Order: sequence, then C-alpha cells, then structure tokens
Amino acid sequence: MMQKKNFQLNEYNTFNIAAETKLFFAFSSQEELIDFIKNNKSDNLPCFVLGGGSNVLFTEDYQGCVIHPQNKGIRIIKETDEDVLVEVEAGENWQDFVAFCVNKGWSGIENLAYIPGNAGAAAVQNIGAYGVELKDVFEKLDAVYLSNGTAFQLNKEECAFGYRDSVFKNSLANSVVVTRLSIRLSKIFKPNISYGGIQNVLLQNGTHQPNLTEVFDCIVAIRKAKLPDVRDIGSAGSFFKNPVLDLEQFNEFSNRFPEAPHYPFGNKIKLAAGWLIDQCGWKGFRRNDAGVYPHQALVLVNYGAAKGKEILQLSLDIRDSVRRKFGVELEPEVIIPSQQNS
Ligand code: EPU
Repeated sequence: MMQKKNFQLNEYNTFNIAAETKLFFAFSSQEELIDFIKNNKSDNLPCFVLGGGSNVLFTEDYQGCVIHPQNKGIRIIKETDEDVLVEVEAGENWQDFVAFCVNKGWSGIENLAYIPGNAGAAAVQNIGAYGVELKDVFEKLDAVYLSNGTAFQLNKEECAFGYRDSVFKNSLANSVVVTRLSIRLSKIFKPNISYGGIQNVLLQNGTHQPNLTEVFDCIVAIRKAKLPDVRDIGSAGSFFKNPVLDLEQFNEFSNRFPEAPHYPFGNKIKLAAGWLIDQCGWKGFRRNDAGVYPHQALVLVNYGAAKGKEILQLSLDIRDSVRRKFGVELEPEVIIPSQQNS
C-alpha cells in the first residue's frame, strides 16, 4: 500500500506526460482498498482509477485522488480436461498474464498479446485486437464501490461490453474500482487467424498449422512492427476509436470514397480511423514533441517532452481535418481525466 500527496504521475502513464495528482493511493489487495475508502479517503475528492496508464492522457494536474491497483496474483478457480477458469488480480500486467497463459497451454487471449496495461483495465476498455475481444473469454469480475467501499461482482451481461466500451465507461464511470477478473480459457487450441495480416505472416514463415506459441509470437511481431514500444516512445496505442456508421451514412460515404477500408460491425459498418487520418496527410507529422506515429496514423506519440495539452491540440486538429475531408467524426479512445470530471 502506498499513499502520497502531490504525486507526480509521469511514470504512471505510457504517454509519459508530467502531471501531479493531489492524492495518490496504490493498493495491493481488495481489503486495503476497502479500508482506504471507508477510513481514509478525503470525502469530496473526485477519484480516477489509473491502471497501467496505457489509455489515458493527462492534460493538467489532477485535483483529486488517483487510485492505482497493484494487487497481483493468478489463480485457477476450476479446471477440466477442456478448459480452465482463471482469476487474475487487476494489478497484474496484461502482457505478462497473456504470456503466462500461453506457457501453460491455455488459449483464448493469445491474439490480445502485447497490449500494454493492466488486467483490470482490460475489462473497463474491453480490449480487442486481431478479431478477439476480452468479452469473448470473460466470465465475471469483482469490484468495489468508491462511494462506500462495498464489494460486488458483475457477470458478462452486467458489464455491457461493446467496442472498446463497457458499463465502467458509462453508468459506472468513475464510481467503481475493478479488483479482479475471471476468464475462461481453452486447453484445446483452435487458431483464430482469419484477421488480415496474421495468416500471411505465418505463411511467410512457412507455418501452415500454427500452434499456440506460434500464433502468440506472430501477434507480438505484428504489433511490434506497427505500434511504438511504450518503453521507448510515449503513446497510448490507438488514440481514436474506429468510427461506426449506420448503413445510410455509410452508403453516402462510400459513394464518395469507395476505396476506404471498412468492416461489417453488427448491422453497421466500421471505418478505419487510421486510414482516414493517413489520407489527411498526418502520418509522421510532428509539432514540437507531439506527433503522429510514422507506421500507424491512429497512434499519437510523445517524442520526449510533449505536454498533455499539445497532444490534445494535435488530436483536435486531426479531428477537424477528418471531419472536413470525410464528414466523419472521430472520437478519442483514450480517457482524458480532467475533461471527464469537469
Ligand atoms: N491504415 C492506413 N494507414 C494507417 C493505419 C491504418 O491506411 O496509418 C489502414 C490499414 O491499411 C488497414 C486499416 O487502416 O486497411 C486498419 O488498420 P489496422 O489493421 O492496423 O487496424 P486499426 O483499425 O488501425 C485496430 C485497433 C488496434 C488493434 C488493431 C488490430 C482500434 C481503435 N484499434 O486498429 O488496437 O491492435 O485493430 O486488431 O480499434 C488499441 O486499441 O490501442 C489498438 C492498438
């Protein structure tokens, strides 16, 4: 457990943005969190839950209490010959957890390899990549209300998962802390490699029937090639969500831009925000230390000393130009705490 006043957060967000929080509280168990909420927390301070800090942009100091899960542990809840129900504490590093499961021969999250952040945030964000989303393996989670320290559980339906979305970004936003998740993984490996590049990369390596480790290694290699390593260049992965259009909007759009990549999404159509931004000429753009990653236009980067406000301004300029050229509105995927609580 750690509790600090006026605490610098630059090492706690992968954009490496300098920002102070009035109060910082890191917990190592659900009990410590409950005790803090019931006995210590200054009442009127707003709270922000900061996991691995890989999906957040601080644009100013935070006038509240940042709560940081540091609880670790992976436990088998139930096991059969076919599958395993695994519980992971919210403070576990997501990449380490995926690697642990792959080493055990448990499949289901190998396509979510190498996503920065912590396990708790994986549920808040319903992380997704290469045709898999967390919800596909999710069973239930434990959480605690910030208002009174009461612990409770939610099943998959109650989490209301959507594309990079969940109940924690809507009706429960800023009011609960996820403390652990249970996910169901399979002991029988069925590769899920239909998504674009994966099959081609495997075939290029001469792999026709990949095993679990080969798919995992392939995903890691693809992500390393496209996305910056947050240990070298500050970033929060995709800055924007891919925009979703209804059919009428899409027909109008595709008459004007028939070459635009798009994907079916329920009864709607998802566009590639990276393509839209790229077409507006932003890829590789740099203004002081704020930039657009040269290998993936959806990723904004901090080359060193960018301020949160500079990254935010760049994102607003990108939104403007995409709106003007394509008539499409981009929404940030990253969370911007000060705006959210103001
Ligand atoms: N594209 C461009 N230029 C670019 C970037 C992309 O033309 O600069 C085109 C690509 O050629 C492709 C299309 O846009 O035709 C889609 O690109 P890509 O397959 O790289 O995926 P994405 O839609 O940009 C999404 C997720 C990523 C996830 C990948 C792989 C969102 C917001 N992003 O990116 O997630 O890794 O698919 O599944 O849904 C994240 O959330 O932080 C993240 C990295």
